[in-house]
Amino acid sequence: MRVVCFLFAALALQLSPAVYAADAEDFSDGMRIFQQKANCQGCHGWAGDGRKMDNQMPTGANLRESKLDRAALVMVIKCGLPGTGMPPFDRFAYTDARCFGKTKADLSAAGIHMSDPPATLQPREVELLADFITAKILGKGAMTRAACIDYWDGEAEPCNDLK
Ligand code: HEC
Repeated sequence: MRVVCFLFAALALQLSPAVYAADAEDFSDGMRIFQQKANCQGCHGWAGDGRKMDNQMPTGANLRESKLDRAALVMVIKCGLPGTGMPPFDRFAYTDARCFGKTKADLSAAGIHMSDPPATLQPREVELLADFITAKILGKGAMTRAACIDYWDGEAEPCNDLK
């Protein structure tokens, strides 16, 4: 029994750095939320550059040029931006004081109507999304071919018309 325990401990020690490294580099969950569940790309474009995927949607900001930091990004995702077409993704946004201390009633008294998001997100999903956007989009400047191939995890095909 002692020997077995020792073996497990040794295995765990050997394995854990690799496991952590893989976790740190894997933004695929956040990317999936950006593209699918939250459909950020519908208004902001797949590269986050404001070239929206859906002509029927409002035009989103160019997130690649954004000066926001991660904390502000999380706030904007959860609360949206009142007075623009950026919807709030926190299911409880404007039901209590969590977003700028305002409720829906406060906003409508000020003549502000916020549109519904494509889907609401759990706090954990917002964190995954913010990790992805911070690593691959926020403040990264124009999309280059190299950044594009990295973005698509080594696939060059979607990047053919980039320099
Ligand atoms: C229905 C369209 C729409 C969707 C969906 C949408 N946005 Fe936006 N977003 C906007 C608009 C419009 C603005 C404000 C543009 C402006 O500055 O006038 C904006 C602004 C932002 C900003 C502020 C950028 C800055 O530097 O001020 C961030 C960050 C942002 N969106 C992130 C997201 C993320 C992340 C998602 C997905 C969870 C998302 N948006 C989904 C339309 C959208």
